[in-house]
Amino acid sequence: MTPDQVTLVQQSFAKVAPISETAAVLFYDRLFEIAPAVKAMFPADMTEQRKKLMATLAAVVNGLADLESILPAASALAKRHISYGARAEHYPVVGAALLWTLEKGLGDAWTPDVATAWTAAYGTLSGFMISEAYGRPQAAE
Ligand code: HEM
Repeated sequence: MTPDQVTLVQQSFAKVAPISETAAVLFYDRLFEIAPAVKAMFPADMTEQRKKLMATLAAVVNGLADLESILPAASALAKRHISYGARAEHYPVVGAALLWTLEKGLGDAWTPDVATAWTAAYGTLSGFMISEAYGRPQAAE
């Protein structure tokens, strides 16, 4: 990601932050619409889940300019997801639901440059998480 892309992601996320609860509802509704099978993996009450997702996204977005600082937490998150039943092929689906949500939430502020910047951001994060969780043999712990 270029520094300009980091700025675009941070500025656009700041616009969604005031409606983060709504954005999270939109996100999971969309996810369960395009991937109905994953719904059963989540708790019935999504209240806490929505908060955790938005808090984690905020932390990632804040850390984009200093990627090294967020990698340990992203690695741990990826590894926890193995036990949630997440597989590598789910990541692009989650990415599609996320980008769709941002597009809806941002309206006119969802420009082609913002879309490209978010695609790069999610690609970087999910690529790293996939490789941490599934990309190499796990050491016995
Ligand atoms: C960059 C991508 C993702 C982010 C930032 C993310 C974030 C989170 C966070 C913060 C939690 C709360 C629990 C924890 O911190 O361990 C969580 C839980 C969960 N995630 Fe993700 N997630 C991502 C991708 C995925 C994918 C690809 C799947 C596959 C369907 C998935 C399925 C789940 C499930 C099922 C839970 C709930 C576990 C439970 O409470 O039983 N996530 N996610």
